[in-house]
Amino acid sequence: MAEKLVSRLWDIPNSFKLKEARKRGAYTRLKKALKMKPEDITAEVKTANLRGLGGAGFPAGVKWGFVPKQSDKPRFLCVNADEGEPGTFKDRQIIEKDPHLLIEGAAICCYAVGLPTAYIYIRGEFFYGKKILDAAIAEAYQAGYLGKNILGSGFSLDMFTHPGAGAYICGEETSLMNSLEGKKGWPRIKPPFPAVVGLFGGPTVINNVETLSYVPFIVEKGGKWFASLGVERNGGNKLYGVSGHVNNPGVFELPMGTSLREIIYEHAGGVRNGKQLKAVIPGGSSTPVLKPDEIDVSMDFDSMMKAGSMLGSGAVMVMDEDTDISEIMHITSRFYAHESCGQCTPCREGTRWMSLICKRIYEGKGRRGDLDLLLNITDNIEGKTVCPLGAAAAMPIRGFIKKFRDELEAKISN
Ligand SMILES: Cc1cc2nc3c(=O)[nH]c(=O)nc-3n(C[C@H](O)[C@H](O)[C@H](O)COP(=O)(O)O)c2cc1C
Repeated sequence: MAEKLVSRLWDIPNSFKLKEARKRGAYTRLKKALKMKPEDITAEVKTANLRGLGGAGFPAGVKWGFVPKQSDKPRFLCVNADEGEPGTFKDRQIIEKDPHLLIEGAAICCYAVGLPTAYIYIRGEFFYGKKILDAAIAEAYQAGYLGKNILGSGFSLDMFTHPGAGAYICGEETSLMNSLEGKKGWPRIKPPFPAVVGLFGGPTVINNVETLSYVPFIVEKGGKWFASLGVERNGGNKLYGVSGHVNNPGVFELPMGTSLREIIYEHAGGVRNGKQLKAVIPGGSSTPVLKPDEIDVSMDFDSMMKAGSMLGSGAVMVMDEDTDISEIMHITSRFYAHESCGQCTPCREGTRWMSLICKRIYEGKGRRGDLDLLLNITDNIEGKTVCPLGAAAAMPIRGFIKKFRDELEAKISN
């Protein structure tokens, strides 16, 4: 059985309270970190092969290293707690059950990179999570883990939560920053990257909740140990959230690189009602679908790319033999059309057209040539927009057509 890290307190009553978390090591890693040289912490995080677990998989230590050491601008950490990718429900577990782990990880990051202010941008619908997090931040201030001169180290840090208003686009890092600044949540053109010009124009690290929650363990046991838990270039554990037609849906913390088959059949209990597996979306709704003969794949960022899909947020959505693929395409495309922020024409217009075409196919009114028309639209969106929302909308549609063309053609010609 793999050692649990970020989920190790989840079954303990009141695990979100400082008293309970402290009994199990909370803030001992911060104490240790504050005695280390900041650059040594970043070096350990690099050695750990800790990848960004919000979806893109960018190495966390490398990102921290991009922040200029000197600058006359204010410097920030943004914690991405927007958790908007459909199918994803892992970050909210950390926030609700072990908020002190996230606060500790965020504080260690701020010390390592020299950031005196942290904002946790939390999805607007997470009322309960925000309440828990705000109470935990207040406890941490009172105990001297946040605020001025933390544990007598000379390092000071302020931390705030900031609720979003429920827009998927505000999970994209630069939209998140615009939203935090009180502006419309539209993505910014990169470069400049946030590490150099981020929140309020200052150097900014942005990391996902899960990413930061692994940092205390790296400080405690070292980067090499963390790297050894996972596979090449993908260190540590990962939270895999399984939903859909399985017997035992839930969030499972397993070593990075656990096979998709093991996740579905061992941990999530296999397909429910004895049905056959038809399709799996492996990493949230924007990742291309896999067929049953493609699930012997290591669930890490690099292997999933090679398999023609993506690890994304690790949100596995399982579909049984009764699933109508045209319905999944209809629901998915409708979501992206609704969530496109409208800044870029190819995404604003293209997602709407894709949604209209998928709807008519699902309703049995599809026209000959619709599948090629959809493919043409995906080509005209991907790579032609400021942010990757357009690609996130195009990739799954292309994947469904590639893998289930016969079924979709049959539906159209009926
Ligand atoms: C449309 C869109 C939505 C996103 N939503 C989220 C989100 O809800 N949570 C998240 O952590 N990252 C999200 N991301 C990824 C962020 O832009 C960014 O890569 C991430 O916060 C970086 O943190 P990490 O390196 O720790 O993963 C989204 C990206 C896009 C393009």
